[in-house]
Amino acid sequence: MPDRSPSILLGVTGSIAAYKSLDLIRRLEGEGISVRVVATRNALPFFPVLPAEVFSGHPVETDLFNPRRPREEGGGRVSHLALLDKSDAVLVAPASADFIARMALGLADDLLSTLLLSATVPVLIAPAMEEAMYHHPASTGHRKTLLERGVVEIPPEAGPLASGKSGLGRMAPVDRILEALLPVLRTVRPPDGPLSGLSVLISTGPTREPIDAVRYIGNASSGRMGNALARAAQARGARVTLVSGPTDLPPPPGCDLHRVTTAREMQETLESLFPSHQLLIMAAAVSDYRMKDPVTGKRKKDGREWTLSLVENPDILKGLAARKRPGQFLVGFAAESSLDPSLLLEKCRHKKVDLLVANDISRADIGFSSPDNEVVLVTPSGEFRTLPRADKSAIAGQILDAVVAGGWPGHPAPFQENADGHSRP
Ligand SMILES: Cc1cc2nc3c(=O)[nH]c(=O)nc-3n(C[C@H](O)[C@H](O)[C@H](O)COP(=O)(O)O)c2cc1C
Repeated sequence: MPDRSPSILLGVTGSIAAYKSLDLIRRLEGEGISVRVVATRNALPFFPVLPAEVFSGHPVETDLFNPRRPREEGGGRVSHLALLDKSDAVLVAPASADFIARMALGLADDLLSTLLLSATVPVLIAPAMEEAMYHHPASTGHRKTLLERGVVEIPPEAGPLASGKSGLGRMAPVDRILEALLPVLRTVRPPDGPLSGLSVLISTGPTREPIDAVRYIGNASSGRMGNALARAAQARGARVTLVSGPTDLPPPPGCDLHRVTTAREMQETLESLFPSHQLLIMAAAVSDYRMKDPVTGKRKKDGREWTLSLVENPDILKGLAARKRPGQFLVGFAAESSLDPSLLLEKCRHKKVDLLVANDISRADIGFSSPDNEVVLVTPSGEFRTLPRADKSAIAGQILDAVVAGGWPGHPAPFQENADGHSRP
């Protein structure tokens, strides 16, 4: 159980919106969240420091080296780690264009940027700037870099701007900032649930196998199912590690995110993470084949046929099943064009998974890029259950509930205690 209230480090940077951070501090404190404020030097002309100190109950920090800070809070030495020790998340609100650029580049030239470079907790940013600055390719690129690193953006809204113009760039209202932050804090300090204290490893999205410098073998997996499983596991109290192939979806906040491209990168990453997790869910659509010899550079048109020679990729699921230790539980997804029960059972046993989740890729209304899914759960002992078509979030919840209710933790056979509604082939 948590031994203290949730805590955040609030970074305030040099935007006209910095005055709104005062209201943010009051609302956060009202939610029982303790706030430590770190402001950039350029935020100070915009930011009411004394009221912020009164509302937060702590000094507003600006200096990297502050000999007056108490020793247990890093006084007399470089303080960034001590200030982070007590933070469950970092929220930069407002985040100026300049500060976002510094974060993306990994600069550490003041207290706030140094803290962010050291932070291992979730980071959220609420940009505030003129519309032209927000849409500038440099700013767009920096935000993209940050999103790829798992930083959560709370996008600005449209309205009157400090310049007198109207447009996109006003810092998100405090309600929207809280809406984004509170779920993140709940996942960092997870609620009590059936998966409390457990670490869940989930693979998601497609993989890409290069053909040449610009072309690749991919598939239509959107990553929605894996993301929904991640959120469902978090809601049940688990800590979640997500290994994601290339997708356009933002990862669920609060996950430990590892991005990969090829099947072999996914294999390497999962193999290194698997030993420290109790539950593995393989929802990624991993390419079965890769180019035998990818072409260097871009192959130009030459009027001739081009035959690609492919070799099989390793069977990641089977490899991980072979390394499974007692106490670990493995869920594998199978994309099938027919859901023949005897073939599914054979696959479940052959792959040595504790639960196989099969979806029918011949149907256009479910699976891959669709928001919905319908799946059949299969256990090695030959039990089958169909989860009828529903939104992927609902399916994800039902899959985890099935794992928890019947087979996790500590019950060797899933569904054992839940015999109603199970059928045998
Ligand atoms: C009156 C005024 C308002 C400003 N408002 C913003 C703003 O809303 N967003 C922004 O990105 N920069 C704004 N700037 C520019 C930043 O303050 C400037 O880029 C500064 O270097 C940011 O420093 P920091 O990122 O270290 O806080 C403003 C500058 C002035 C003089």
